[in-house]
Amino acid sequence: MSLKRSSSSFFIFLFSFFFLSSHVSSQACQKTCGQIPIKYPLGTGSGCGDPRFTRYITCDPDQQTLTLTTHTGSYPITSVDYAKQEIYVTDPSMSTCACTRPSHGFGLDWDAPFSFHDDTVFTLLDCSVDESPVFTPLSNGSGRVSLCDRQSSSICTFLYSNCRAISLINLQVSTCCVYVPLDLGPSFEMDLNKLKCSSYSGFYNLGPGQESHPENWNYGIALKYKFNVFDEYPGVCGSCERSNGACGFNTQSSSFVCNCPGGINTTSDCFFLYNSASILVPWFSSKHHSHTSTISSQIINLY
Ligand SMILES: *[C@@H]1O[C@H](CO)[C@@H](O)[C@H](O)[C@H]1NC(C)=O
Ligand SMILES: *[C@@H]1O[C@H](CO)[C@@H](O)[C@H](O)[C@H]1NC(C)=O
Repeated sequence: MSLKRSSSSFFIFLFSFFFLSSHVSSQACQKTCGQIPIKYPLGTGSGCGDPRFTRYITCDPDQQTLTLTTHTGSYPITSVDYAKQEIYVTDPSMSTCACTRPSHGFGLDWDAPFSFHDDTVFTLLDCSVDESPVFTPLSNGSGRVSLCDRQSSSICTFLYSNCRAISLINLQVSTCCVYVPLDLGPSFEMDLNKLKCSSYSGFYNLGPGQESHPENWNYGIALKYKFNVFDEYPGVCGSCERSNGACGFNTQSSSFVCNCPGGINTTSDCFFLYNSASILVPWFSSKHHSHTSTISSQIINLY
């Protein structure tokens, strides 16, 4: 490339830079939604985060609430642990130690890019002992097909006796069934109408010694996600986020974009917008970028 050509393209670049910055003033992809930091693979709207998550996780622009939507309903997201790749949601129809509520259950879509975390424990409450398939006797009379985890039945005892809201309605412990989602596969459907139970409770991260204190359990549902088949965090995204950008994608081509402060999109990161040296010397800029993304993937690997 001749010097003349590169300097004229530089001016075209500068021109478009100022043209864009005068017309686009804010970052399209938010880096928080209410109190919750938003990082890849989550996003706050179309073109933000990983496209596979856009349909399921949304940020209400006015309320600033992050919501998970599945075919069974919409559920507030209470927090996200990006290091552990876990999303915690609550279900307003779920029963807790403090109150019991009727519920239709909870389900994840089969094609959702996340599944139940193994730490989630579900307890079906007030199930019909005669009709619920979780207790169905075998037709030949030799025992029952039970989906319940017998070793954890003490959870039922604690819920039914230590929680005022449940003990008041005087249910029999025999109508309670504990199971972990693992028993039913990764994308199971907890359809309480089919299971003939009137409500359920879900909680996660039950610490040692906490079993007998249902008032302290973390009520909700823990989900885990993967970045891709190999579960690798894309290095280019780490570099984008460290340069104060938000990872997103071009909605037409689904290719990666880094949405920078000021609303400018790049295909790498926002460092080059700040770094005038890399603007002046394009070959330095490309070298510089591949260097930072190598470092970033190394840093990511350390986590
Ligand atoms: C930048 O990318 C975001 C997210 O994909 C998109 O919403 C926005 O319209 C893009 N902005 C420009 C100026 O192309
Ligand atoms: C009863 O049925 C179950 C499953 O259908 C079978 O595994 C079991 O052996 C049967 N018991 C008798 C006594 O036939």
